[in-house]
Amino acid sequence: MTVSAVRQDPRTGERGSPLAGRVALVTGGARGIGAAISRQLAGQGAAIAAGYRRGRDGALALAGEVESNGGVCTVHQGHVGSAYDCERVVGEVLDQHGRLDILVNNAGITVDKPVLKMSPQDWNEVVSVNLSGAFYLSKPALEHMVDRGSGRILNISSIIGQIGNVGQANYAAAKSGLFGLTMTMAREAAHALGKAGKLDDRGPGLTVNAIAPGFIDTEMVADVPERVLDRVKQQIPLRRLGQPEEVARVVAFLCEDASAYVTGQVWAINGGMEM
Ligand code: CAA
Repeated sequence: MTVSAVRQDPRTGERGSPLAGRVALVTGGARGIGAAISRQLAGQGAAIAAGYRRGRDGALALAGEVESNGGVCTVHQGHVGSAYDCERVVGEVLDQHGRLDILVNNAGITVDKPVLKMSPQDWNEVVSVNLSGAFYLSKPALEHMVDRGSGRILNISSIIGQIGNVGQANYAAAKSGLFGLTMTMAREAAHALGKAGKLDDRGPGLTVNAIAPGFIDTEMVADVPERVLDRVKQQIPLRRLGQPEEVARVVAFLCEDASAYVTGQVWAINGGMEM
């Protein structure tokens, strides 16, 4: 496979459909940052498989929206904290779409409490969804991508994994853990491709990267007490929350074939909050 040219209109600078024919599984893909990623990848031509846990109506609405814009979107219920559900969902996507090119491990939850008040259950719940879920999904996805010799895995981490935060020991630990998982899978993916004789200098390759959004304007951040959020904004040089679309466009960039040389990295999108 050769690197597909990014179709760009020379007059308007508008790009065509660099992800046409690709299939992207986006967990938590119908809400917040995940929904923006689903829309962005669909806009670039990818068929979307949107994962959800409880919000069936929201997932169906997102699918309807993508399809009314001429795209393809299936919805998949599952709990990413369950290894069984993760394997089942990847199987469903392969059955329904015939391939999986892009996995976006986006689903995440918070149970914010100071360590002194955090129960082992609070800890385990957040770590299982935000960290173990990425492993459970990546394992079957990676197996398929190594067989095919190409793919993209994007782990949506957080600035909290880089700098920590009062009240978020479980979340910070899980989001930091995604950095180690990302770097290791990036190395293992390249190694596996090399062993299979599929490390093609000019192909799309099989890359694994992490994204570290800062405070983004979503329901999750809306739950942060106002006085805490005011203090957070004072720490952001751009003095505002980010928009989900500002994260989604970086994901789309990394999914393009021409981004094949970028792997094992952390992409921060945080208005300069951490630098
Ligand atoms: N940074 C610094 N200090 C903080 C803080 C923060 N982010 N959050 C809370 N504090 C301080 C409070 O100001 C308070 O200080 P004082 O005692 O000096 O007044 C102290 O910690 C205790 O706070 P509370 O009175 O609120 O105590 P609590 O036990 O009722 O709640 C808490 C503690 C659960 C941490 C609560 O303050 C809270 O929910 N904070 C917000 C946590 C947060 O920022 N979550 C981010 C969610 S968004 C997200 O996670 C997305 C992403 O990736 C960025």
